[in-house]
Amino acid sequence: MNIGVFDSGIGGMTLLHQAMVLMPHEKFLFYADTDHVPYGTKSKEQVISYVDGVIQFMISHDCKAVLIACNTATAVAAAPMRSKYKLPIIGIEPAVKPAVAESEGKRVMVVATPLTVHEEKLRNLVQRVDNAHLVDLLALPRLVEFAERGEFVSEAVTDYLKEQFSEYELERYGELVLGCTHFNFFKDTFRKLMPEQVHMIDGSLGAVRQLARILEAEGALAKPLAQKAQSWEKNKNDISVRYFESGREILDAGKLHYIESLHERLEKMRLL
Ligand code: DGL
Repeated sequence: MNIGVFDSGIGGMTLLHQAMVLMPHEKFLFYADTDHVPYGTKSKEQVISYVDGVIQFMISHDCKAVLIACNTATAVAAAPMRSKYKLPIIGIEPAVKPAVAESEGKRVMVVATPLTVHEEKLRNLVQRVDNAHLVDLLALPRLVEFAERGEFVSEAVTDYLKEQFSEYELERYGELVLGCTHFNFFKDTFRKLMPEQVHMIDGSLGAVRQLARILEAEGALAKPLAQKAQSWEKNKNDISVRYFESGREILDAGKLHYIESLHERLEKMRLL
C-alpha cells in the first residue's frame, strides 16, 4: 500500500523529502493540488472541500495513511477529515512550542500563510505556550507564488523579505519558525537576512516521525525503520514515488526532471 503526501503545491515536497529519507522502503504518492494553489489566501470552507477531494483520491489509490504536508490545510481541515475518514491522517503545524522553549527569552517570529496566521488553531497554540508574549506572527503569501514559479533565490525574493521584516528589530529574535512548507525552499535567503543568533525551525521532521510512529504501531511499515540516518544520495534512485498534479499523474520527462531538481534543492536546505 501507499503513503499519500499532499499540499497545495511544491511545498509538500519538504515533507515528502524527509519521509523518503526516513522510510526509503515505502511507496509514496505525492499530490500537489496545483488547480487550487494557493490555499493560504482562500476561505476555510474552500480549503476543507479541496482537502476532502484529495483524501478521497488517496483512498481510491490504495493509501494506508495520508500526510497533510501543508500547515494551512492541517489548521483548517485535519480535524474534520479525521472524523470523516478511518485511515490515519497526519498533519503539520508551525513548531511554535519548541521554538518558545529554545528561544531563551528572545523573541520568536512565526512566518506562515494568511489563513494559518488568522486561524484559531495557531492562535490557540500561541496562547497556550507563549506565556511571556514573545511570539510574532507574520503572513508571507508572496513566497508561495515565488516558490510555485521556481524563483527561489532572486533580488525580488530578498527585497520582499527585507520589506516584510523592516518593521521588526531582528536583533531581538532568537527563533524563526517556518510555518508554511513552501518556505523551506528559501532557507538560504532567510539565513542571510536573519542575524546569526536566529535559529530556523520547522515541523516537517516531527510530522514525518509521527507518521512513522503511527505506521509502526499499526504494523504497517514496509520495513522496520533503520536505526541510523539514511543517506539521500544513496537511496534516491530506488525510492518508489509517483507524482500527481490535482489528480493527473506527471509522466512528462521534463517535469520529472524539474521535480528531481527540487529534491536536490531541498536536500541542500535540509542540511542548512
Ligand atoms: N504549503 C502550504 C502550507 O504549509 C500552503 C501554501 C499555500 O497554498 O498557500 O501552509
